[in-house]
This record gives sequence, structure tokens and C-alpha cells, in this order.
Amino acid sequence: MYRSHTCGELRMKHVGTTVTLAGWVQRSRDLGGMTFTDLRDRYGLTQLAFNMEVNADLCEQARKLGREFVIQVTGIVIERSSKNKNIPTGEIEINVTDLKILNAAKLPPFTIEDETDGGDELRMQYRYLDLRRNPVQQKLILRNKVALETRKYLDSQNFMDVETPVLIKSTPEGARDFVVPSRMNEGQFYALPQSPQTFKQLLMVSGFDRYYQIVKCFRDEDLRADRQPEFTQIDCEMAFVEQEDVLNTFEGLIKHLFTTVRGVEFEGAFPRMTYAEAMEKYGSDKPDIRFGMEFVDLTDEAQGKNFVVFDSSEIVLGINASKCAEFTRKQIDELTEWVKRPQIGAKGMVYLRYNVDGTYKSSVDKFYSEADLKVWAEKANMQPGDLLFLLSGQTDKTRKQLNELRLHLGNQLGLRNPDVFKPLWVLDFPLLEWDEENERYHAMHHPFTSPKPEDFHLIYSEPGKVRANAYDLAMNGVELGGGSIRIHDRTLQAQMFDLLGFTKEEAQAQFGFLMNAFEYGAPPHGGLAFGLDRLVATMGGSESIRDYIAFPKNNSGRDTMIDAPSPLDEKQLKELGIMLNS
Ligand code: AMO
Repeated sequence: MYRSHTCGELRMKHVGTTVTLAGWVQRSRDLGGMTFTDLRDRYGLTQLAFNMEVNADLCEQARKLGREFVIQVTGIVIERSSKNKNIPTGEIEINVTDLKILNAAKLPPFTIEDETDGGDELRMQYRYLDLRRNPVQQKLILRNKVALETRKYLDSQNFMDVETPVLIKSTPEGARDFVVPSRMNEGQFYALPQSPQTFKQLLMVSGFDRYYQIVKCFRDEDLRADRQPEFTQIDCEMAFVEQEDVLNTFEGLIKHLFTTVRGVEFEGAFPRMTYAEAMEKYGSDKPDIRFGMEFVDLTDEAQGKNFVVFDSSEIVLGINASKCAEFTRKQIDELTEWVKRPQIGAKGMVYLRYNVDGTYKSSVDKFYSEADLKVWAEKANMQPGDLLFLLSGQTDKTRKQLNELRLHLGNQLGLRNPDVFKPLWVLDFPLLEWDEENERYHAMHHPFTSPKPEDFHLIYSEPGKVRANAYDLAMNGVELGGGSIRIHDRTLQAQMFDLLGFTKEEAQAQFGFLMNAFEYGAPPHGGLAFGLDRLVATMGGSESIRDYIAFPKNNSGRDTMIDAPSPLDEKQLKELGIMLNS
């Protein structure tokens, strides 16, 4: 037996007990007559005490222990004279009688403590050491709890976990596929699934009725804080359901997870908003509704006063930053520069300050009278002491830019409290999205999403106006998950592919298996997938999903610890029938 207890377990009630512990040396303090060593494992820290007077040899040995040595100690639990209120084991220590070094350790490249001196790159290279740190372990513990409670909830609702293949066929689902060459079928490639979408639909045709899987998905896309090339979905599908059934079932899952894992209760049903409304009010399909600052349309009020920037714009939008009138000129200039950065792309910004003394000050005073500015202020519901920011231009672009500014101000003003959780269902997404570059429509969600029957008549005349039975769950400005009610009819599915610019032959070659399946009794079905990494990161109060993944990739898609991706040797390439250009 290596240990009788863990390093997080011992309390005052254990005083007098002889125990054996095993773990890593976090650090030692040599106080002459006494040496104190902190012993760490996944469960906590326990202080070991070595007394020079009682056992000089043992104390000498303890002094030589380096950081991260793996040791085993036996000793008696005693009450500490100076107690540490900050840790659960802080009232006791171990009076060590026996010490065994199980494995020595090189000096680690960074300190393995809550606050570390290791930079991001170094920690990723030695991720197994970073994972020893308590704050990082807590994140994976949270992830484990979420996954476990997900299984419990879905199991209680009759969902069945079914595995689907990882080597599949390349299909257009939005992002680029990762591909895998087939040795046995030279010149042919598998693709890694961007999601198990078609398989879960086929499982509905097979009669499985309620499916789920906590599953790896792969997308070759540009990376961001909330995007990894391989990530995990809680992927679900249900047969014989309407949108309302799906929303209720998964609202239930999210409530269950927050209650059991975070102790957070949501009152009543999650709020809902249409996509159109979300874009109009927040310029985002995943609005952060922890704070206000909704968009105010000032186009009519701002145009026609000879200010050419506004007069030549499709839209003029404002946001009221309450109680910000004391912003200095310098702060406003900095914000203006911020929105003009290429990532945001605004040409400029106008402000209106409603001073506490009731007067107005604006960067466009020249064009607008006090009475004009008062009209803006009234429309934006400004109170004395408020500050209004205005952007203008083409509608979609202006909305996007103002969304960025809104979130930036939200951060600056401390309005995005990570301990507050605001879910929001976003409904009625458009079926199609116009791709400027390729001058064609794409499915906004994916090609298996059904159009709303009441919009169906527009499908050829005004395809951009057709809404889909598609929904997302947003929380705190993050898209946690999304799904749709699917097409389950071969003719409609073929029509959809036609609309997306597939020839009959292309559609048959790529999705023949699905359309054929629809001819053998496909039930009405729909579903959704949550991004597990994003869900856990949001629950943990972070915007970055990387810390919640045991072995993540960096921003260039590399794993610097195992050094992947890496070249193949000549023999492997030859076997695969692959010749490289360079
Ligand atoms: P979608 O593409 O919206 O839907 O993905 C579902 C959820 O997966 C998460 N997600 C990601 N997380 C981390 N890194 C990424 N690169 C990444 N891409 C997506 C998001 C997203 O909401 N098959 C459909 C679901 C369905 O219709 O049932 C699908 O994959 O949280």
C-alpha cells in the first residue's frame, strides 16, 4: 500500500493517527531545527515536519529533497502550532518518522504553484507539469463533472450513447476537413468528421429515437480563443420532435448542469430572441445580455443635416454608455482609434456627451443644433452624465463594429461579470447565407436544416429571406450550442442541394446515402450539439477554451509537447502513394 490517505484528507480528527502519504514535493522551508515540506497530490497539500532534535538523519534527508521529487512518508498526524487557514489541511501536519524517495526529479522549467513564473509556450511544451498545478487541475475536474452530469441527465431522459466513425467521407459542412490518406485505397482519402451530423440522422432512421455522444470533432479553420482544431461536442438527436421539444429538453440539460456543478439556479424559462432581433439590438447572433447598451437606430434623426458621413450611410447606430460622461477626451480618442483598427474596421466614431449640468457636447456640434442633439439623447434614453457613441455605414458592417465596441466597453466598465450567467435562445436563423466571394448561397447552419414552412414560397424568389427551423443557445456572448429540425424528405433535401448549387450528380455522390435512407421511412427529427469545451470554459468564467482541454493545440494548430504535426518519412509516403511538391 503506497498511501493510507491523500494529501487533501487529514483534519484535526486524525490527530494521533499514523498515516502514510505519497506525492510530490511542492517546496521545503529549512528553519534550522525544523524542516517543513509541502507534499502535494491531486487532492491537496499536507505539511510534513522534520525535527532535527528528534531525528537528525531524517531531517538531513528532507533538506536534500528537491522540488517535484516523488516521495512516500510515514508519520503521526499532529496539531500545528501555527495554523494555515487558507488550506483545508492547515490545522495539522505530519511528524515524519520514515521517508522514502520514490523518484527524484530534475528542477522543473517553471514553478509548479498556483501562480507560476512559466510563460504560455513553456507551459504548453511541458503541459504534463502545468497540469500538476492546482488551478489547471480544477478546470479539468470541472470538465469531468460536466461530462458526468451530462451523461446522467441524458440517460435519465432515455438518450442512448452510440459511437460513430472517425474515418468518414469528406463533405462540405462549413469549415475545411482534415483528411487522412488510405493506404489500402491508394489515391483516396478519409475525412475526419466536423461533427457526426449525418450519422446521427441515420440513427434516427434506424429507430434509435434519442441519441447522444460526447464526441471529438475536427475542423481545419483559423483558430481563436474559443476555437480548437479538435474539440468536443455533446452531440444529440431526437426523433418525433418539434423545435419546442428540443429546446425544452436541452434547456433542462443546461439547468441540470448549472445546478449540480455550479450551484446556480436559473429562474423560469430561458429568454428567447429571434436572429433578426438579436442582430438589430446587439449586432450579434450570440448577444451578451448581462448588460444593456442596446443599439439605438438614429438614422432618421441624424440624416439630412449636411453631415456627409451620416448622410451617405445606410444606417446610423448608437449605444448609450450610461454614466460615462466623465470619460476624458483622451479616453474617447483611444476608443475611436480602437474601432478604427483593421480588425474592427470603422472609419470613425461620433460621440454625444450629456453633461451633468444638462448641456450637450458632441464631436459633430458643427452640424447639429442643441435641439437636434436633444432628439438623439431622448431616443437613446440618455440621462445627464451619459455618453452616446455613434457609428455609421453599411448596415451589417456597422452592426458588427458596434457589437465589438459594445463588448469592449462592457469589459472596460466591468459589466461582464464571469460569475453571472445569462443564457439566451436565438431562434429563426436564416436558412441561407450569401457568400460575397464565391457569389453563391451557403447553408447558414448546414444543408440538412429544414426551412420554415411559412417561408417556403420564397425559396426561389428570395432565398435570402427564408428562415430556418434553426436555433442556438448563447450565454455571456458565447455560442454554446446550436441545432435544427432537419429535412426528412428526399425531395426537399434534393431541392436544398439544388439551391446550394450542387448538381444532381454531385448531390448523389456526396449525400446519396442520406437521401436514399430518407426513402426507407425516415421519422421527423431534429437535434443540437453543444461545444463541451465552450460550455465548461463559460461555466468556469473564462473565454479561452484552451485551459479546459488537457492537451490543447496552440494558435498555429501545433502540439508543441509532442511536436505535431510532423513530416512523414519517405517510406510512409511511398506506401500511401503520396508525393510531396517540395
Ligand atoms: P455547430 O457547427 O454549430 O453545429 O457546432 C456546435 C457547437 O460546437 C462548438 N464548436 C466549437 N468549439 C470549439 N472549437 C471549434 N472549432 C468549434 N466549432 C464549433 C460550438 C458550437 O455551437 N452538427 C451540428 C449540430 C446540429 O445541427 O445538431 C454542428 O456541428 O459551441
